[in-house]
Amino acid sequence: MSTASVYADFAARETRGVSPSYERLSIAVSRDDETLRLLDRLPPAKRQPNLLFGVVRLLGGPVDDPAAFRAYTVGNWPVIEEQMRARATQTNEPGRCAVLLPVLAALPQPLALLDVGASAGLCLYPDRYSYRYGEHQIGAGDPLLECAASGMEPPARLPEVVWRAGLDLNPLDVTDPADLMWLDALIWPEHAHRRARLRAAAARLAADPPLLVRGDLVDDLPALAALAPAAATLVVFHTSVLYQVPPPRREAFVAAVRALPGHWIANEPPDVLALPGLPTPPEAALHNVLSLDGTPLAWNRSHGQTITWFG
Ligand SMILES: C[S@@+](CC[C@H](N)C(=O)[O-])C[C@H]1O[C@@H](n2cnc3c(N)ncnc32)[C@H](O)[C@@H]1O
Repeated sequence: MSTASVYADFAARETRGVSPSYERLSIAVSRDDETLRLLDRLPPAKRQPNLLFGVVRLLGGPVDDPAAFRAYTVGNWPVIEEQMRARATQTNEPGRCAVLLPVLAALPQPLALLDVGASAGLCLYPDRYSYRYGEHQIGAGDPLLECAASGMEPPARLPEVVWRAGLDLNPLDVTDPADLMWLDALIWPEHAHRRARLRAAAARLAADPPLLVRGDLVDDLPALAALAPAAATLVVFHTSVLYQVPPPRREAFVAAVRALPGHWIANEPPDVLALPGLPTPPEAALHNVLSLDGTPLAWNRSHGQTITWFG
């Protein structure tokens, strides 16, 4: 896929109806030869819209107006390029717990959670947040995660979590102001609700930090999983991670996770894992597919705002 197509696709399938400012920027970038030429100096994995826009926001550049964005990006390219090479998209979205919850609540309790590609670890607290699926509310903790659900009964209980650990190539620390600024910069401009829940979830995590280990999701998974208490159900899960992992390593990861006891929950775009029997997504916008032990169960939007159950 050319860089122009990547930005046009991002505009049409990820930002339309979700972030008008990023939709405008993505369309403008997809049509601007100079910005595309600069982006093409980066390795393909570093050309992502989320990374470019997040870095420009981190540096204090304008993201409301495409002309101002272009002038800033072209004029400040050396520092933008340096930051894009040094950083990765590490958006940590606790809203994704609303998608995980129906599966987690249905597994034999208590649970030992192992989040691979955990970023700062904010998805490791599904038992501490509260949820609203339509009229149905569950839990009382902050933040409240709202999810439009169809085709499923909302979970009746929160899971009981007795152990939680995260694995990431570059774990972020929500108590470090620089890491928190990067997490904030990765949230799309109009999403004040996501910014508020980042703060609330970060405060919760800071009060009771999880075990976060720096490592690779293939090489370092077995050793971390071995630390989980045997009396709990081990649940290895990942959300929006494997698209950053080259295909041969994805296969190695699937082999590694299948060799472990317990269960495996994946929540990834549909082209990332070759899952059998996927129905058509509910609409043209990009959806993640939720699966348990390789069986697909539901479509969902990438910040956990909708879930459409089909399993
Ligand atoms: C887009 S973030 C998603 C974070 C979190 N799972 C969520 O949904 O909020 C992807 C994370 O995967 C991590 N990652 C990418 N490749 C990895 C690998 N080979 N091993 C461990 N972590 C990896 C990145 O560092 C990043 O923090």
